[in-house]
Amino acid sequence: MLLQPFSLGSIPLRNRVVMAPMTRNRATAEHLPTAIMADYYGQRASIGLIVTEGVSPSPNGAGYARIPGLYNAEQVAAWKPVTEAVHARGGRIFMQIMHTGRASHTANLPVGAEVVGPTSVPMPGEIWTDGPGLQAASTPRAMTEADIAAAIAEYASSASLAIEAGFDGVELHAANGYLIEQFLNANVNTRTDAWGGSSAARDRFALEVTRAVVAAIGSGRVGIRLSPFGAFNATGAFDGVDAQFLELAHALGAMKLAYLHLVDHSSMGAPPVAAEFKASLRTAFGGLFIASGGFDRARAEQVLADGKADLVAFGRPALANPDLVDRFTTGAPLNAPDFTTFYTPGVKGYTDYPAVAATVA
Ligand SMILES: Cc1cc2nc3c(=O)[nH]c(=O)nc-3n(C[C@H](O)[C@H](O)[C@H](O)COP(=O)(O)O)c2cc1C
Repeated sequence: MLLQPFSLGSIPLRNRVVMAPMTRNRATAEHLPTAIMADYYGQRASIGLIVTEGVSPSPNGAGYARIPGLYNAEQVAAWKPVTEAVHARGGRIFMQIMHTGRASHTANLPVGAEVVGPTSVPMPGEIWTDGPGLQAASTPRAMTEADIAAAIAEYASSASLAIEAGFDGVELHAANGYLIEQFLNANVNTRTDAWGGSSAARDRFALEVTRAVVAAIGSGRVGIRLSPFGAFNATGAFDGVDAQFLELAHALGAMKLAYLHLVDHSSMGAPPVAAEFKASLRTAFGGLFIASGGFDRARAEQVLADGKADLVAFGRPALANPDLVDRFTTGAPLNAPDFTTFYTPGVKGYTDYPAVAATVA
């Protein structure tokens, strides 16, 4: 089942394998995509659907070193070789839109940009910077109504630019403690205006961003990633988290998005997401559902056979195996990921993982 073709709405996929979004920090210091990124994604084009690493829709959202952005014409031009490399090999690629919000350091931002968030409380924890190394996350400026409107417009504009750059669609990163989840999460969002203070108010930013992006590029080209119960970037569960996310999923479902992509990082040490909750979330959304986190081929086949997901995303296995689908087909063993090169610049640990054909030859 995993290796059979599938229709993501009107987008035909060669199989049900998804490459999970993974930040790899191989863009320039100015947040421009590089030629090696086209090589990397092109190598992985036999995967049914590639979701790129998180890409900032705004200078203010580029809070990590060397992550790519998509908010200007130069970036559009630099992304085109990436989408062309994937399409030339028959693949499909969505761009993950990730605004880092307060998970950020000013040293990583372009000149004139600033760290913003739902409140002015800094994220506990450190952020890598290429100059002085690890630094405490910068103190954000609490977003005003005007800032919120501007950020929503930036998501929509970046989605339009993604289509211009040749992407098949976008995935909104509403997980893992970045800007959208900073609004969703009651441990982070302590606002008491129309954007916080109740579950509906905390959901509002996610819904308004999604609405704007759907209006810009059409619902069939928009997916969203959520991580209820995730703990990354100082989020964590809170009272009423399940009810809030079910309400959110229901409202997102009404927008007829391409898919809902659920994060379960229990394989990486995060609290597990209960099977019953996953089922309820999927029902509340009512559309296509991508499962992710700790999958191998056997577990992926099982989750599909059980009808618990429509597609399965693989993170580290896709990072370390440019020919992941071939290896699934032949049963060849997988390369192990080298975590020391996950976020380092250059080709090492990026485009030099061998394919089986290369190993055998
Ligand atoms: C190097 C690395 C970078 C990641 N960056 C992102 C990211 O930019 N956006 C995101 O939604 N998840 C990100 N993740 C999480 C993965 O998408 C995925 O959920 C996680 O690796 C668990 O799946 P796996 O067990 O198949 O690796 C990242 C994971 C890794 C290993």
